[in-house]
Amino acid sequence: SEKSYEYIQATEPRPGVGQITLNRPKALNALSTPLITDLNSALSAFDSSDSIHAIILTGSQKAFAAGADIKEMAPLTFSQAYTTSFIESWSSLTTSIKKPIIAAVSGHALGGGCELALMCDILYCTESANFGQPEIKLGTIPGAGGSQRLTKAVGKSKAMELILTGKTFSGKEAAEWGVAARTFGTYEELMEGALGTAETIAGYSKVAVMAAKEVVNKSQDLGVRDGVEFERRVFHSLFGSGDQKIGMTAFAEKKKPEWTHK
Ligand code: HXC
Repeated sequence: SEKSYEYIQATEPRPGVGQITLNRPKALNALSTPLITDLNSALSAFDSSDSIHAIILTGSQKAFAAGADIKEMAPLTFSQAYTTSFIESWSSLTTSIKKPIIAAVSGHALGGGCELALMCDILYCTESANFGQPEIKLGTIPGAGGSQRLTKAVGKSKAMELILTGKTFSGKEAAEWGVAARTFGTYEELMEGALGTAETIAGYSKVAVMAAKEVVNKSQDLGVRDGVEFERRVFHSLFGSGDQKIGMTAFAEKKKPEWTHK
């Protein structure tokens, strides 16, 4: 499933693991429309590939992504943005993918870069990573979910402070506030950590993994009562999967489950 793209690299670093590396180094991985087109296409290719079970999304050591492409946006008019649904294709980029996506963030994750990381299912970063929503400094506001996802993650007061001042926050703070699941001292440790988690996930039943991602994401949109009911329905439906029988039988027989992903 390795295909070549202009602004990203798509690789399979370990069995079952697909990795997308943003690769527009001269612009610190600024998220231009052509880059997003590449990213969308690589994500859907991994999502429909039988051999890929988990996805890592990363940038370089220096920059995950320094935001949407400011030079592309500068001349845009309201009518162009509105009629072409500018940004719509990436505001739900990672949430429409059924396989889990781990963001591995090192360096700058600003504006749209921060929003892209927030869209992923698990966020890992280096302690020194540089997050922020600096749009206010450009005379605008977050446009790819930052005001919603960051607020859900850190609460209203802190999100207001970050979005109204444009102040950045470190990877260390991201972990303290629950934005990041884990931090790492170095870039190498970050990538090894992301690969290890992706491999762990890839070792489970694909059906169960996708269902787990779906129910957790529902919690972001539904109230607790509806969310718990949704979870129970999906839980019931997994009694119809082969892997539930395989997993529970293997436990009872003290054997390692051999998933069929069915
Ligand atoms: C276009 C960008 C860019 C961006 C950096 N570059 N960020 N180009 N869009 N978002 C380009 C620079 O113009 C420069 O090009 C090259 O990348 C290297 O950047 P430098 O500024 O020289 O690097 P450095 O001094 O190390 O500073 C790094 C930085 C700074 C702190 C990250 O580049 C910066 O502040 N970038 C903008 C961050 C930002 O405001 N992001 C939010 C964008 S708005 P040249 O050609 O000069 O070498 C946004 C809206 C989202 O994301 C809403 C909808 C999705």
